[in-house]
Amino acid sequence: MRIAGGGHMRDWLALHDRPALVVGAGGLGGASAVSLAAQGARVALVDVDERRLEAVVRAAKEAGGEGTVEPIACDIRSAERCRAVVDEAVRLVGTPQVFLHAVGRNVRRPVLDLGDADWADLLELNLSTAYWLGQQVGRLMVAAGYGRMVFVSSVSGLLAHADHAPYAATKGGLNQLVRVMAREWAASGVTVNAVAPGYIETDLTKDHLDRNGNRETLAGLVPARRLGVPEEVADAVTFLASDRAGFITGQVLYVDGGRVLV
Ligand SMILES: NC(=O)c1ccc[n+]([C@@H]2O[C@H](COP(=O)([O-])OP(=O)(O)OC[C@H]3O[C@@H](n4cnc5c(N)ncnc54)[C@H](O)[C@@H]3O)[C@@H](O)[C@H]2O)c1
Repeated sequence: MRIAGGGHMRDWLALHDRPALVVGAGGLGGASAVSLAAQGARVALVDVDERRLEAVVRAAKEAGGEGTVEPIACDIRSAERCRAVVDEAVRLVGTPQVFLHAVGRNVRRPVLDLGDADWADLLELNLSTAYWLGQQVGRLMVAAGYGRMVFVSSVSGLLAHADHAPYAATKGGLNQLVRVMAREWAASGVTVNAVAPGYIETDLTKDHLDRNGNRETLAGLVPARRLGVPEEVADAVTFLASDRAGFITGQVLYVDGGRVLV
């Protein structure tokens, strides 16, 4: 029997020394990388923006955990680059036992105003990179017989927000990709889950929230009556990335203050 405060409570999440690959050093990926490193993980962190990478490396040092964050600067928009990024992560921190996909973009326009490039670009960045990276990391995790994968979805994968067509389609698609990978890899010790945040203030949402009272209007739609903060998503990611979440797979965990309830 496990007794709270007993020996197992030290490194309860068992993330110490675990090689991790986090893709996306923005608000949510950055906070998650810092959280994983604070738990002792060795994190390879990928982003196209070198300044964001540096900021997260600094934040992880300031947080003072025993883990590390190793930056990899790369634009991940092709299958070849996704595979190269995984190779580089293996070289830097070892075969990933934890993987987080936290890259995505939104184009807020009605369907009738969207161009072909809007659709193609969002599909590539939000969904295809998740497939390419998930497949390549999945190969390694299945061979190793252990893995924890988390993909950042959104409440838009479930709700029909106007002006969100390509974004919503990629997040709904991501939820199904997660479920199929979870089913295929469950017997190999690999769990695959999504976290689906509601509105969280990051660079992705800041401009939109700053416009015409959007912040207050959107907070009013949330039963908790507020927007979330990146650390609240990072906490959910860290749990799903841990040994403690070994029997949870194929789930979409809403981190949204109750937004999808109404
Ligand atoms: N912030 C929210 O409210 C919210 C809500 C629901 C879901 N999400 C999802 O969370 C994920 C992360 O969002 P965020 O809020 O942290 O956004 P963000 O804009 O703060 O971070 C996204 C990061 O992706 C990087 N990136 C963009 N294109 C890239 C490319 N081609 N190659 C490599 N890196 C690239 C950016 O440089 C940035 O650091 C996204 O999938 C987003 O859809 C965010």
